[in-house]
Amino acid sequence: MSRVETLIGDMTLAEKLGQLTMTASSYAVTGPVIAGDSTESIRDGTLGNLLNMVGADHVFEMQRLAVEGSRLGIPLLIGLDIIHGHRTLFPVPLAEAALFDPEAWTLTAREAAAEGAADGLAMTFAPMLDVSRDPRWGRGVESFGEDPWLGVRMAEAKIRGFQGADLAAAGSLAACAKHFCAYGPVTAGREYAAVDVSERSLQEVHLPPFAAAIAAGVATVMPSFTDLAGVPMTANIPLLRGWLRAEHGFDGVIVSDYNAIAELINHGVAADLVEAATLALKAGVDIDMMSDAYRRGLPPALERGLVTMSEIDAAVRRVLTLKEQLGLFEDPYRRGAKAESPVAVANRRQIARSVGARAIVMLKNENNALPLSRPVRQLAVIGPLADACAEMGGAWGAAQKAEDHVTVVAGFRAALPKVEILHSAGVAIQSKDTKGIQRALDVCTQADEILLCVGEGAYMSGEAASRAQLGLPGEQRAFAEAVFDHAKALGKRVIVVLFSGRPLVVPWLFEKADAVLAAWFLGSEAGNALADVVTGRVSPSGRTPITWPRAVGQIPIFFGQRPSGRPFNPQDHFTSKYLDVSNEPLFHFGHGLTYGRFALSNLRVTPERVTESDTIEVRVAVTNEGARAAEETVFLFTHDKVASVTRPLLELKGFGKIALGPGETGTVTLRLRATDLRFPGLDLQPVFEPGEVEILAGPCADRARLLVQSVRLFA
Ligand code: NOJ
Repeated sequence: MSRVETLIGDMTLAEKLGQLTMTASSYAVTGPVIAGDSTESIRDGTLGNLLNMVGADHVFEMQRLAVEGSRLGIPLLIGLDIIHGHRTLFPVPLAEAALFDPEAWTLTAREAAAEGAADGLAMTFAPMLDVSRDPRWGRGVESFGEDPWLGVRMAEAKIRGFQGADLAAAGSLAACAKHFCAYGPVTAGREYAAVDVSERSLQEVHLPPFAAAIAAGVATVMPSFTDLAGVPMTANIPLLRGWLRAEHGFDGVIVSDYNAIAELINHGVAADLVEAATLALKAGVDIDMMSDAYRRGLPPALERGLVTMSEIDAAVRRVLTLKEQLGLFEDPYRRGAKAESPVAVANRRQIARSVGARAIVMLKNENNALPLSRPVRQLAVIGPLADACAEMGGAWGAAQKAEDHVTVVAGFRAALPKVEILHSAGVAIQSKDTKGIQRALDVCTQADEILLCVGEGAYMSGEAASRAQLGLPGEQRAFAEAVFDHAKALGKRVIVVLFSGRPLVVPWLFEKADAVLAAWFLGSEAGNALADVVTGRVSPSGRTPITWPRAVGQIPIFFGQRPSGRPFNPQDHFTSKYLDVSNEPLFHFGHGLTYGRFALSNLRVTPERVTESDTIEVRVAVTNEGARAAEETVFLFTHDKVASVTRPLLELKGFGKIALGPGETGTVTLRLRATDLRFPGLDLQPVFEPGEVEILAGPCADRARLLVQSVRLFA
C-alpha cells in the first residue's frame, strides 16, 4: 500500500481532522496571533498545517515537533502569503502586470519562491487571479487588472514560477489559485460584500484564469470569502465539486480562506459550526484555515450522519498527497537547510530594481519634463511618500523589513551623487495637518527641478481596503495644488510620482502636472527604480493593466464592455452617456508613454480566410520616430461584429514588445490560434461561428489608435 493509504488506515479521526486544519503560528510576524501556541496540538497529531511563520529556525522547530514528536510523524505544511516577494519585495502584482512580460512574471515568482523556501516554507497563497474592474475594491492591487486573457497569462507564468518544474525541489512552493471565483465584482466595490454575476460573466471573465491555473498544474485553490448569487463560495458545490473538480479535473487541495468556514454562519447558510463544516466538506474544501470548524464540527456531523468517513478520508488523502508531492515526507528540512548566498540575494535585488523600473507607467510627459536632461544642482524630492520606506512595499510582505526598502530620496541620492537632494514631506499621507506645506514650498524655491511624491499609503489597498473616494487622501490635494501654483509662479516644472494600489481618480492632478509616473508600489528597490526612469538610465515601458477612470461614477469602466443598442452619439440625446462626464476613460488600458515616439503601420493579417484549426499571424511595423531608444508594446485585440450573442467591443488576445533605437523600424509578430476566437454561445457552450472578425493592433485599447483588418471565419 502507498504511504498515504497506510497512514490513512492508521489515523484516528482526531489525527485526520488535524491534517485538515491550518492554524496561524505563534511566530506570526504580522496581525494578531489568533490560535496562540499550537505546539501541543502539533505534538499530539491534531494540527497538520500552519500559516504565517517567518524564519527557518522556527519552521524547523515546529517541523521537528511534528516529525519527531507526533505519533505518526507526518510533516507539517507551512504556508505564507508570498504575494510579490518574501523578504525582497518586487512590485505589487498590479504593477508587475504593467510589464506585459510573462517571463518577468515567472522570474519574480521563482525568486520569491526561492526566498520563501529558504525560510523553510512550502506553500504560498498566491497568485490571486481575480479580475478587477472596480478600483474601489482594494484587492485590485493583488491582481493583474481588468482583463481575463491577461489573467490567463499571469496564472500560467506565476504558477510556473512558484512551483518550478519540480514541486519537491528545495526552491519550489505549492502555489494557490485564489480567490475562486468572482471576488472582484463585490457589490459597490466594498470588501467582502456579496457578488452576483451572470453565468456568462463567469464563463467569459472570471473562470478562465482559474482554468489556466489548473491546466498549469496549480497545487491548491482557495475559495473566495464571498457569496456568489446566493451561494457562498466556501460552500459552493456546483463550482467547487462541479466546475473545479469534476469538469476541470482539479485533484489538488482546496484550502479555505481565513475563518471562511465559520463565516458561513454569518452568510446565513449554516446555523452552527457543525453545519458550516458539513457544507464546506461537502463542497470539497480540504483544509480549514483558522475556523477550527473541522476539528470541532465534523465529529458531531459524522455522528449525525451528515458527512461520511470516506469524505473525510478523501480530503486527508489530498492533503497527504500534496505533502508527498512537496517532498516533505522524504525530507521535511529540505527547504531552509541552506542559507542563501549573498550573491543570490544581491542578484534578486537587481531583478527587483529592473522589474521595478519596467513597472512604472509614464502616464503623462509634457514640456520635456522627463527624463531630467538639463543640468540640475538641486532637486526637490518632496511629499509624504518621498522618504517613506515603510510604504514602498505596498500591501502584503509579512517578511519584509521596511528599512531594507529604498526610498525615493535615497534612490536619487545614490543616482545623482553630485546633485543636492532637498526633501520635505509637506503633509502626512492622511493627516489634517498642513503646517509643513510652507517648508516644502521653500524647498521648491531653492530647487531646479521638483519631484512631488504623493498618493496612497501601502495599507490603503489590499485586503479590507476598499475606498469610495479615490482621490489623494488627507491634505495631499491642498498640498499638491500649492506646489503646482508655487512652481508655476517660479516657472518650474513639477514631476509627480503617484503611489497607489489602484488608479486614483485625480483628473486635476493630471492636468496640472508636467509629468506623472504611476509608481504603484514598486517594492524593495522602489527609489532606485524611480531614479533609473527619471534620470533616463531606463526608458519607461510600463502600460496600465487597468483602465484609468476620470470620475468615480464611471466605475466599473473597462475596455471589454459590450456594445449598447444606442452607442453614444453627440448629436442624439437618447444614446448611452452621462450628462455630467464623458464616457471616455482618462487613460485607456495599455496606455503608457516612453522616451521614444512610436508609429505603427502596415498591419498584415494572414490568412484572411480562417478555419478553426488555423493560427492567424498578425504583423505590424513599428517605427521609433523619437530621439531616444525605447520599447513599444503592441496589443492585439479582436472584435466579432455579428455573432449569436453580443461580443465585447474589444477582446485582448495578445501582446508583444519591441525595443528600437531612434529612427529604427522593426516588426512585431503576434500569433493567434483560431480556437481563441471561440466564445460561449447561447447555451454557454464554446462555439466557433463563421463570419467576419476584426483583428486590431495598436498601442492601447483606444479604438481610435488601433489598426484594423478583418478576417473571415469558416466553420
Ligand atoms: C485572507 C485573504 O483573503 C487571503 O488572500 C489570504 O491568503 C489569507 N487571508 C491568509 O493570510
